Amino acid sequence: MKKPKFQCPTGMHDILSGDQEYYQKIFDVARNVVSFYGFQKIDTPIVEQAELFSKGVGLDTDIVEKEMYTLRTKGGDFLALRPEGTTPVVRAYLEHGMFSLPSPVKLWYFGPFFRYEHPQAGRYRQFHHMGLEVFKEKGSIMDVRIMQIFYNILRELKFKNIVININSIGDNKCRTQYKRLLINFLKSRQSGLCANCKKRSKKNPLRVLDCKEEKCQKIISNAPQFIDHLCEECHEHFKGVLEFLDEAGLPYNLDSYLVRGLDYYTKTVFEITEEVRGVSANDEDEERIQKKPLSLVGGGRYDNLVKLLGGKDTPACGAAAGIERIISVMKEKEIKVVSSYSPKVFLAQLGDSAKKKSLRLFEDFRKAKIVASESFNRDSLRDQLKTANKIGVDYTLILGQKEVLEGIIIVREMKTGKQQIVKFDKIIEVMKKKLKK
Ligand code: HAM
Repeated sequence: MKKPKFQCPTGMHDILSGDQEYYQKIFDVARNVVSFYGFQKIDTPIVEQAELFSKGVGLDTDIVEKEMYTLRTKGGDFLALRPEGTTPVVRAYLEHGMFSLPSPVKLWYFGPFFRYEHPQAGRYRQFHHMGLEVFKEKGSIMDVRIMQIFYNILRELKFKNIVININSIGDNKCRTQYKRLLINFLKSRQSGLCANCKKRSKKNPLRVLDCKEEKCQKIISNAPQFIDHLCEECHEHFKGVLEFLDEAGLPYNLDSYLVRGLDYYTKTVFEITEEVRGVSANDEDEERIQKKPLSLVGGGRYDNLVKLLGGKDTPACGAAAGIERIISVMKEKEIKVVSSYSPKVFLAQLGDSAKKKSLRLFEDFRKAKIVASESFNRDSLRDQLKTANKIGVDYTLILGQKEVLEGIIIVREMKTGKQQIVKFDKIIEVMKKKLKK
């Protein structure tokens, strides 16, 4: 078939009806879980001042340097489609004086984000986040609570092999020292690094730890580890995180080279993955096992960000889940979602007067909260029964001229084909009883 002239922009997708159920399911599970933990929902605009991200996420990050969609408005504002949700939430926290709310302030959000990435599996230019941000809580218990909430959401979505990969990247004090060590280490191994890391090794050496190139990975595996160089405060904090993780019985894995790609993190950083182990070991699977699975959730502590964006010193932490990645694992593992809209009753009509009566009856079903379906555009009973079968309803109600004149309606049980005649004005009552059984 010839491609239509206009198509979805590269790396972006229409969300069609089949996938809507997944988004709705994840939203519903997330809302239930986070409401239990006392989070309030917040929505921020799709665009923000571009400077918010260059300042908050960091000028040298891939997100700001390469992936931001920016635009100049007619009024001269320089805006960016939001590439992530933490900085906008901090902006809103400060703008609305939420710092005077009782602590901790707990916010959550769900919505689209934009990054001009190289599109590939699990990496899109428009994707959705479900995120949590907590302010005014410095204890390590909150870091673990955030992990626990995402763990619970994924468990409720039937994920079974969840692993929390965790590290500490210290604070400004110990990070400066660690960076110095790392720069020295990388200096002696420059020739073995990829072109990108050669550049990064002086300016932003932590990014080298994040490189996926095999030759860099080999070098990184001998690099000094951050957790051996934490200052006392950061060390205590991380110890606390690990103790709470043990206490909560959460599955975790220390990943000494996990740094995350955003500059605002301090102390704890983590990513949650679903291990794709246990699948049959043909070549393709072997390759997948070798590869680190894509992170489903990423987050950590960001104790300096509120101050950096103009507020008071405020401890904070949070994380965000990538909805498309969660959906893709759900599909891969054949985790089914049940549609919240699944009609139980189909209304078939024959002739003009029946059609008129069906219109009213259909509204009565809506008021009685019975999910019903119809195809008013079809006139043949055979076609309508075929549609009812396809939808998979339990009952089809048949209303023809004769039934209208006699004030009755036929109820056909689809499984058995048995039919029953019911008085028209009793049909809602009768169907309520039948569907309750
Ligand atoms: P992030 O790691 O950049 O963190 O994104 C969080 C999650 O979004 C990732 O773990 C991944 O599942 C998903 N994701 C990221 N980029 C893409 C993409 N191009 N296509 C599809 N999915 C993607 C943040 O954005 C932080 N704001 C998280 C956070 C909240 N930290 C503290 N609070």
